[in-house]
Amino acid sequence: MEPNDQTLPGQGLKPEKMPGHWLLAQMGKRVLRPGGLELTRRMSDALAIRASDHVVEFAPGLGATARLTLRHDPASYTAVERDDAAAAIVRRFLHGDHQKCVVGHAEETGLADDSATVVYGEAMLSMQTTNTKSRIIREAVRLLRPGGRYAIHELCLVPDDLAEAVKDEIHQSLSAAIHAGVRPLTAAEWRELLEAEGLSVKEQAQSPMHLLEPKRLVQDEGLFGAVRFVWNVARHKEARRRVFAMRGVFRKYRDHLAAIMLIGQKTEGAAS
Ligand SMILES: C[S@@+](CC[C@H](N)C(=O)[O-])C[C@H]1O[C@@H](n2cnc3c(N)ncnc32)[C@H](O)[C@@H]1O
Repeated sequence: MEPNDQTLPGQGLKPEKMPGHWLLAQMGKRVLRPGGLELTRRMSDALAIRASDHVVEFAPGLGATARLTLRHDPASYTAVERDDAAAAIVRRFLHGDHQKCVVGHAEETGLADDSATVVYGEAMLSMQTTNTKSRIIREAVRLLRPGGRYAIHELCLVPDDLAEAVKDEIHQSLSAAIHAGVRPLTAAEWRELLEAEGLSVKEQAQSPMHLLEPKRLVQDEGLFGAVRFVWNVARHKEARRRVFAMRGVFRKYRDHLAAIMLIGQKTEGAAS
């Protein structure tokens, strides 16, 4: 079932003020992560979720990955989403007592220690401050049993030795276009952040940041969904301006922006 437009996050906000991901959602986009469904599938393959897994998803958004995960019929699935409207959409895909979506913050979920074997979150850490990024990763580690896996799929800066001035420029341009603070890290910085919380990085993959490029739109949304998105954007003047501004920034920094997927494993000694 597709969400109906009445219930989409961002409803009631003016297009000129709306965070970029909700503007894209209003225009019909359902996949809101930088590496698209392709990098999500690589993450999902590497996580190899089984029927015995207890899965926690941070920030499921409109539930595109939730649906992939639920196909593996894990022992339990719990999503923690900050936005009420998004949480209501995710709940439509859930069944039974062992699948739930709570409204809350990934940095303080209220879930029990050692209650998960898999935690993942996509396109949600990049938009946090450095301190909150670490708090969210620490929370994932607290939830995980030793040996458990934590996956992230985020925006990434390249190369690892990118000048600080360019990083700041990209941070400012992205934040201005998306209307949310967006501070991506280099691959080395993302790894360090995971390792600092007691995770051992087992997998890394990168792909181009093509969120708003035609080929990726079709891959992520299907031909019909991509045409619907383009049609909606074409019809709304302010949305068109915003989408072009976002794509303009992604294109301007295409040599320094990518999508990254990392899988960390909780080591035996890591604190819960
Ligand atoms: C760019 S969207 C990505 C949604 C989805 N993960 C995807 O990739 O399509 C960012 C999502 O993160 C959620 N979010 C941001 N900060 C959060 C937090 N601290 N705790 C829970 N959810 C959060 C937002 O409400 C939104 O659903």
